Amino acid sequence: MVAARITVNGKETSISPAAPHTTVLDFLRERGLTGTKEGCAEGECGACSVLVARPGVNKPTDWVAVNACLLPVAALDGQEIVTSEGIATPGDPGTPPTLHPVQEEMALRGGSQCGYCTPGFICSMAAEYYRPDRCAHGEGGGEAHADAEHGPNGFDLHSLSGNLCRCTGYRPIRDAAFAVGEPEDDDPLAQRREQVPPAPVATEYTQDDKTFLRKNTLAETLELLRERPDAVVVAGSTDFGVEVNIRSRRAGLVVALDRLAEMRELRVEDDHLEIGAALTLTEIERRLDGDVPLLAELFPQFASRLIRNSATFGGNLGTGSPIGDSPPVLLALEASVVLADADGERVVPLAEYFTGYRQSVRRPDELIRAVRIPRPLSRTTAFHKIAKRRFDDISSVAVAFALDIEDGVVRKARIGLGGVAATPIRALATEAALEGEPWTAETVEAAARVLRAEGTPMDDHRASAAYRSAMLGQSLLKLSAQTTEAVSS
Ligand code: FES
Ligand code: FES
Repeated sequence: MVAARITVNGKETSISPAAPHTTVLDFLRERGLTGTKEGCAEGECGACSVLVARPGVNKPTDWVAVNACLLPVAALDGQEIVTSEGIATPGDPGTPPTLHPVQEEMALRGGSQCGYCTPGFICSMAAEYYRPDRCAHGEGGGEAHADAEHGPNGFDLHSLSGNLCRCTGYRPIRDAAFAVGEPEDDDPLAQRREQVPPAPVATEYTQDDKTFLRKNTLAETLELLRERPDAVVVAGSTDFGVEVNIRSRRAGLVVALDRLAEMRELRVEDDHLEIGAALTLTEIERRLDGDVPLLAELFPQFASRLIRNSATFGGNLGTGSPIGDSPPVLLALEASVVLADADGERVVPLAEYFTGYRQSVRRPDELIRAVRIPRPLSRTTAFHKIAKRRFDDISSVAVAFALDIEDGVVRKARIGLGGVAATPIRALATEAALEGEPWTAETVEAAARVLRAEGTPMDDHRASAAYRSAMLGQSLLKLSAQTTEAVSS
């Protein structure tokens, strides 16, 4: 096994002697690259943002911004990253570097005060600057396409939804984002997109009896899990990274799944859609491009772009959290999980997958290989996330609807709920109260009363049980209002 190595700002360096749990953030800072900052160490502030070369959607390579505080550096064995220090063009000896266009705009428009958040903003902004389908002209760009969240240069402000600034105020940062142009032809990071990213490499990195492991294939990984069911499996590490940083969790064996080709396929069949459990949410969002409207509604509300660039459906379902944002949506879509072990696969409806608080039918030697969504899709769908902030927050309550309404009658209703029980659940009583009934104000009022009584909501620091129940009912009333507006417009 070749020693673990990573390319940082064009220079290859050994990962050793970092401990296997060492984050990319700590690794960089210990080597003097202190532009990458720690604000929260749990994926909420973006001060640690760096760029990773990943397989692209429209070009061989995309520059993708990720939270360096959550990712173990061993997970980037053989990979290539750029930090805020590597974005500017170095000058001749004795002369300062030439600022990158996003740095230039941030400086010109007053986008930095204390500067603590600025390197993270610069990296997130640079990723959006290099997004191949960002377009200043024509579709997706130009004055005609500008709105509160998109600039005339096609810049999508959601790319900054994971970056927090406590002193500048966001308007100058938005001004800078909306002012950047297109990369020049000789821009080295733009040119880099035309070549393939580094291929995944098998990794076995051990220090002090702790190991980070990446196998070449799913079959090898499943054989390993049969022998070592105690292993912690990670994909984007957005949940495990928090455990490492905040709860000092140190696993004896961590196994990486994120680059296994068998878990990164997206297939559209006549009767279902199969989404690889290790595809990131950003990859799914870009590849589906709105073909599953309920997922298209979910993605912008799921944490932040920085998190979505690493998080996966496999991880969100694998942790079994009752407040994950994807389970209510996948329950409403009647999704199943494809569970694989060394002997084969089984398909489990998601409605039967969760068995208790953070528990599921998945055995330790099994992996979620993919998520299957049956087709055709219901036509009336909505995802309502009730949280204190619009983006980059954890839901108090989440409700997903998928209804078939024909000739004014609800033929089928599927409703997924999060935050109101020990597991994500289907609102079965409400579904029954809607099915076969006319889609009228009376039906909706009656079903909303049923929906308010679904689950066993609790009081906690995010919301009271009474508030959660009230929000369930309001959610159905909101859907009704939205569909009425859609019909009358
Ligand atoms: Fe806050 Fe990483 S340090 S997101
Ligand atoms: Fe101070 Fe953003 S400039 S936190």
